[in-house]
Amino acid sequence: MRIYLTGGSGFVGSNLAHVFAHEHGAELIAPAHEHVELTDELMVRRSVLATRPDAIVHAAIWNDPAGLRSDRRRAWEAYVTATRNVTVAGNAVDAHVVLISTDWVFDGTQGPAAETEPPNPINTYGFLKACSELIVHQIAARGTVARIAGVQGVHRARPSAPRAQDAGFGYLVVSLVQALRAGRRFTLWDGPGLNRMATPTLATDAAELVWRALERVLTGTLHCCGGEHSDRIGLARRAVEVFELDGDLLDVGPPPADVRAGEPVPADTRLDAAATARSLGVELPALGTMLHRLRGEVESSWSLACPA
Ligand SMILES: NC(=O)c1ccc[n+]([C@@H]2O[C@H](COP(=O)([O-])OP(=O)(O)OC[C@H]3O[C@@H](n4cnc5c(N)ncnc54)[C@H](OP(=O)(O)O)[C@@H]3O)[C@@H](O)[C@H]2O)c1
Repeated sequence: MRIYLTGGSGFVGSNLAHVFAHEHGAELIAPAHEHVELTDELMVRRSVLATRPDAIVHAAIWNDPAGLRSDRRRAWEAYVTATRNVTVAGNAVDAHVVLISTDWVFDGTQGPAAETEPPNPINTYGFLKACSELIVHQIAARGTVARIAGVQGVHRARPSAPRAQDAGFGYLVVSLVQALRAGRRFTLWDGPGLNRMATPTLATDAAELVWRALERVLTGTLHCCGGEHSDRIGLARRAVEVFELDGDLLDVGPPPADVRAGEPVPADTRLDAAATARSLGVELPALGTMLHRLRGEVESSWSLACPA
């Protein structure tokens, strides 16, 4: 299968690239941002026509919550126009178009939200992702919205650029592991104004689910997430166990004021993925299984980064 991947240098995109190419032998076309600007309709069309992929997996986003608020036009173009450009180009070559989306299209009172639950975003990022989902549903000849959630994993394109804890769940475990392994205290944020319940997902597990959806040409909305919900403290404690860390270094406290000062954050974004699991013919992994796999990935990525 020839796959055109956007955002391949990003956290999620680099894991999609790894699973598609290294685990499944897909032929990957993953142009860098500097080579294909997704907001440029003609450039996207030319690039897709020249490579004629079987599928396009669109994972690129402008990842800057403050920028999304301060430059609404750029934000609209980076999410909605880019998704439209990718989808129209995909249709022109009869490609299956998969949009990587998010549990933040929900308002945080709908959890566990099923695939059929209508989106009801409460912040700019969620709004732009919900609009992008609509584009794929309305325009793609063969389109899939693959929502991922609370994504954990290693950044395979930039392993030495760890992301810090934020109001969501993404990257939380690796941030905590890095601190505790270095003997530093880590304050896990908890309290109002944060995403407090989610369905944590290993990036490579999500990528495997997307791969199955591509193989089966499954369209519609999928929840490509883990099989067990968790709150922030539960996830942190399980990570301490699985990574055999010193739990005495873990504190729990409110986030800094500037984190709470931003836009509203959905509190409970648990995803119900039963229909997705059925249609993909899989059992979604329990939290412990997911964390053990994450430990394996972290250890092999760190030993690659710092050989003995
Ligand atoms: N991370 C999470 O926890 C999480 C959770 C749920 C859903 N998601 C979804 O996963 C996807 C990827 O997120 P991520 O966290 O992996 O983001 P990321 O690490 O910030 O990566 C974003 C990627 O998009 C590229 N990009 C940005 N604007 C572009 C443009 N105009 N044209 C071409 N390429 C562009 C970036 O390239 P440059 O860096 O070179 O600009 C980068 O490769 C998104 O759809 C997001 O909604 C993520």
